[in-house]
Amino acid sequence: MLEVDGVSYRYGPEGPLALEDVHLSVSAGEFLAVTGANGSGKSTLALLLDGLLVPTQGRVLVDGLNTADSSVRPVLRRRIGVVFQNPDNQIIAPSVEDDVAFGPENLGVPADRIADRVRWALDVVGMGLYRTTDPHALSGGQRQRVAVAGVLAMDVPCLCFDEATSLLDPVGRAEVLAAAAEVRRLGRTVVWITHDMEEAAIADRVVVLGGGVLRAVGSPRRILANEALLQRWGLEPPPAVAIARRLRDGGMPVPAVHRRSELVRAVHSMLTRR
Ligand SMILES: Nc1ncnc2c1ncn2[C@@H]1O[C@H](COP(=O)(O)OP(=O)(O)O)[C@@H](O)[C@H]1O
Ligand SMILES: [Mg+2]
Repeated sequence: MLEVDGVSYRYGPEGPLALEDVHLSVSAGEFLAVTGANGSGKSTLALLLDGLLVPTQGRVLVDGLNTADSSVRPVLRRRIGVVFQNPDNQIIAPSVEDDVAFGPENLGVPADRIADRVRWALDVVGMGLYRTTDPHALSGGQRQRVAVAGVLAMDVPCLCFDEATSLLDPVGRAEVLAAAAEVRRLGRTVVWITHDMEEAAIADRVVVLGGGVLRAVGSPRRILANEALLQRWGLEPPPAVAIARRLRDGGMPVPAVHRRSELVRAVHSMLTRR
């Protein structure tokens, strides 16, 4: 679905490389977490995937379309959409349904089909009851879910979330994560950019970017349990990994886990076995 083939990107002619020789492919229906410290190149990658930036070197293919080919621009908007960090910057209309309708209207979708798409997209993200609400009256998590619906309504097979939860409170974060899980369940390809390793734990695969270079790719189990790797690239291991390690340091034979639920199960079975 997505093919990043030896991609480098530099913002100015004199600037350093924001991304350097990145190779990555994402298959249809995959949920890929892209992690990395601030400045590691995550947003640059999102903009390259979306075709808003074109590689300085290498190429990006979205569903076989080369983003550097300006003639594919209109089609590209039907293949991939991005949900950005700040929900406020993504709201453009005075009602939720008008806001979600904006994307498909721009694509030239017939009016009767737009209404269906808007209703469907709002139901997917659990915002069906807010159709006529002014988006400015919503919480951050709700506004961000409207932004997700706006991308979904364009019927794209691939969605990229660029730190879409990082400005939200815990409730908003959980709401947006649930919306992303629903998008995944629909079989859409998801690129989930985050520096929260607990969020990365739900992915099929995790990528670690450091200084614009792809430092590691692997299963959440392999990547998240590697505290040295995460620390090296400015990331915090998920709480379950850190706690399990401290328990092991304290002499408790806790297995390597990367999810909270696994840690709870492991500790529970150790305590009840006594
Ligand atoms: N518009 C820009 N102009 C110049 N440099 C930029 C611009 N945007 C990002 N950069 C630089 O590119 C690098 C990667 O940034 P970015 O992709 O935003 O990282 P992240 O999203 O992981 O924080 C950083 O060194 C950053 O300073
Ligand atoms: Mg960023």
